[in-house]
Amino acid sequence: QIARELHDELGGAMTGIKYELLRLGDNTAMKGTVKKRYRAIRDMVDVTTKTVQRISSGLRPKILDTVGLAAAVEWHTKEFAKRTSIEVDLKQPENLPVLNDAMTTGVYRIIQEALTNVARHSKATRANVTLEMDNEELRVDISDNGKGIEQSQIAHPESLGILSMQERARMLGGQISIASTPGNGTSIVLRVQVHSGTPEQMTTAVPDTTKKVLGGKKL
Ligand SMILES: Nc1ncnc2c1ncn2[C@@H]1O[C@H](COP(=O)(O)OP(=O)(O)OP(=O)(O)O)[C@@H](O)[C@H]1O
Ligand SMILES: [Mg+2]
Repeated sequence: QIARELHDELGGAMTGIKYELLRLGDNTAMKGTVKKRYRAIRDMVDVTTKTVQRISSGLRPKILDTVGLAAAVEWHTKEFAKRTSIEVDLKQPENLPVLNDAMTTGVYRIIQEALTNVARHSKATRANVTLEMDNEELRVDISDNGKGIEQSQIAHPESLGILSMQERARMLGGQISIASTPGNGTSIVLRVQVHSGTPEQMTTAVPDTTKKVLGGKKL
């Protein structure tokens, strides 16, 4: 509930502010300090908008508690297809094992973000979402028939979506792999162990910054 309110109310308000700001910018000849301040406000609005998105997506969507992961994914893919006119083929096992809350939130958000990217970037006409159990491993594949991702775009510092999918996967003790042939679609695959013996969280995963710091310039 809080997640939805944050996203809908605050997100909507931020978009309104941005829109008014852009109009102001278009209709006013600004110079010097005024222009600088204007730009600073505009940048802050962008940053705040992303923060709202991040916070609201970190919270657990209510639908997971009411209908469970499988039905929530089904609902989301249907809504997505309606909204975007991108055909979605969903496949999931009849009896998905019961997964803990952290796992269902993570899997749901990863699917959501991957599909958002399909809509925003891929120019695809079709997408596939496939959930599969292989022994104790859950495999989730979100692929599209769009234009594909370049390696350089994956590593782009402003790309928070892919980073946050990877981060979520790591927190669940799993991993994301991205396969793409330019011109021939993209496939995002999450693999994660779901058996009960899995350590609950790997929150202590150390970011791989050591090498960069050592090899980079001195502070
Ligand atoms: N399915 C896809 N097809 C084609 N390009 C994609 C796809 N998914 C991602 N990309 C490319 O990879 C980039 C990184 O995606 P990412 O989700 O990290 O960032 P973003 O969507 O641009 O911004 P945000 O932080 O709001 O998610 C995108 O900007 C886009 O160029
Ligand atoms: Mg994205």
